[in-house]
This record gives sequence, C-alpha cells and structure tokens, in this order.
Amino acid sequence: MKPPVNITITGAAGNIGYALIFRIATGEMLGEDQPLILRLLEVPAAMKALSGVAMELDDCAFPLLHDVILTDDSADGFRDTDYAMLVGSKPRTRGMERKDLITENAHIFSAQGKAINEHAARDVHVMVVGNPANTNALIAASNAPDINPANFTAMTRLDHNRAKAQIAIKTNNLVADVTRMTIWGNHSATQYPDISHCLVDGTPATELVSKDWVIDHFTPVIQQRGAAILEARGASSAASAADAALDHMRSWILGTDEGDWVSMGVLSDGSYDTEPGLIYSFPVTCKDKTYKIVQDLEIDDYSKQKMRLTEQELMQERDIIADLLQS
Ligand code: NAI
Repeated sequence: MKPPVNITITGAAGNIGYALIFRIATGEMLGEDQPLILRLLEVPAAMKALSGVAMELDDCAFPLLHDVILTDDSADGFRDTDYAMLVGSKPRTRGMERKDLITENAHIFSAQGKAINEHAARDVHVMVVGNPANTNALIAASNAPDINPANFTAMTRLDHNRAKAQIAIKTNNLVADVTRMTIWGNHSATQYPDISHCLVDGTPATELVSKDWVIDHFTPVIQQRGAAILEARGASSAASAADAALDHMRSWILGTDEGDWVSMGVLSDGSYDTEPGLIYSFPVTCKDKTYKIVQDLEIDDYSKQKMRLTEQELMQERDIIADLLQS
C-alpha cells in the first residue's frame, strides 16, 4: 500500500461536499490503492453538521480512509495537504449584485491562498469549485507566492461533461464516444462550449449537427444549465458538480486518455491570444500530475469572438478584485 495522502475539502458540510466526500473515500478519485486522510474545513456554524458527515464516514468503514480531521481553522485544514478542493463559498442571496458576490468570496479565497502558502505541501494541487471559480482560483494563486501558480485550477469539467452529454443525446451515440470537447473561458454564462474539434465515434461533430442547432440550442443549454437545474430541482446541481470535481482531479493526477483531452480553468500563458495570467478554461492533456494546454487548434472567426467575450468578463472580474492580488 502507498503512504496516505492528505486531501482538503472546504465547504465539506455543504451539498456538493456531501455528494463528493464519500466517493473520494471509496478510492474513485485517486485509485483503490491510495489511502487517504481527509481534512474537512468548514465555518464554525457548520461544524455540527460536519460532525454528522464524519459519523457517516465512520459508519461506512472505508478501508482506504486512514483519518478524518474536522476543523474550522485553515492552518489545520491545509496542513501538509497534497490535494485541496476548494468548494466552500458564500451563495448569492436575493438582491445581491454579481460584483458583491465576487467581492464577498474574494476574501475567503485570499485567506485560503495564504493558508495554502503557509501550510500545504509544496506541490499541492488545488482545484476551485466555489463560484466565481476562475477568479477565486486567481486570487488564491496570487496569495500563495511560494506555490507554483500553475497548481491552481478552476473547475469547468461540469460544463465539459454537460456538453459531451448533449452531443451524445443529439447524435444518438454513447457519451463515451464523444471526445475532444472544449470549454473556453469562464465558468459562467459567457463560457464558450466549442464542438469545432469534437469527434463522435471518430466523425467530426460538426458533420453530425447543424450550425443553427449549435447556436440556438446547444450553446445556450450548456451556458444556462446550472440555472435550469436550480429551477427544476429547487436546489443547485450537487451530484453532477461533485462528479465533475472527481473527474477534474482524477484526470489531472492520473492522466487523460490517449487521443482525448479535458477542459480545465488554468493559468493562461497567452495561448490562443488569451490574456496571460488569467485563469481561463482551455483544452488540456494531463500526464504525471501536470497538464499541458493543447496547442495549434484551428480557431475560426466565430470562435475567436466567443473566446474574446468570455476573456473580457474574466478581465472585468479581475479588475473588481485587483486590490486582493499580490503583485
Ligand atoms: P452549499 O451552500 O450547500 O455549501 C457551501 C458550504 O461552504 C457551506 O457548508 C458553508 O458553510 C461552507 N463555507 C462557506 N464559507 C466557507 C469558508 N470560508 N471556509 C470553509 N467552508 C465555507 O453550496 P454547494 O451547493 O455545496 O456549492 C458550493 C459552491 O460550488 C458554490 O459557490 C456554487 O456556486 C459552486 N458550484 C460550482 C460549480 C462549478 O461547475 N464550478 C457547479 C456547482 C456549484
């Protein structure tokens, strides 16, 4: 057996946390030969609920689970952690402007970036789920100057998975046959789900669906999917978000399939003329716990315009929280 790794999950008593933690403990994320220590970080008001989650973890008697630490102290939460899944954040409340939501959450992620810098393993792999995920990842990375900023990522895998599923349904194929899907930009309604390079059982998706369907149906469905689930379920997506979080980390740590790629919000190096330094969703391949942005994809004028639009939103978000970025 390998030595255990530390996995921190923030917002562990929340909805996504509840759908996520038990699956991680079974080994679904890092493999059934990888023992784990779970470090579950919450706010003081949620510690009682968190203790209930911990009782259920005990009751599952997971063989891989070596220890569970419950804490509302970020030093304990991030101590020596190898993998940090930043799920906890404040939800948008009635009447709250998007700008206020960004500012409120920015303070959480600047504090957590500092705690990661001080206490986490030097090669910690960080994924941000809490919204606005890309900008929160940027803030956390900026406040952790001793950690490689490339190790801070934002989750756009749910959008990626949603897009694959819609193409599979439309073309009457299995989701497993849909490869090379791409989500560009922000995890928000400006994201650009791009099927230009997508294959369905080896055939270009663009030969199987019409451009009108992509523009009028596919794109808005993916961009608005979170709102549609909230409307139908009366609660925001949790199981699918948790599933995407597992997928994101598993791909990053254990690698992507040969010939395919996944979408991740990662530090822009200027690829595809995007603003360097933003956390922007790109197609990436992963190997040996590192990702590489897929290069040299042909980008048509329509795509360029959509990619620019979501980039501009990310730049606006960055302006709102500029005072929290370390230079
Ligand atoms: P939730 O409200 O059920 O749970 C959030 C939890 O975070 C709560 O238990 C709360 O106490 C905790 N929390 C708040 N501030 C914290 C802090 N400073 N430190 C530690 N914990 C803290 O929300 P849910 O449904 O679990 O969603 C969590 C986040 O994930 C939200 O921001 C949501 O918008 C986002 N999300 C992101 C998706 C993506 O694709 N990137 C998809 C779905 C949700």
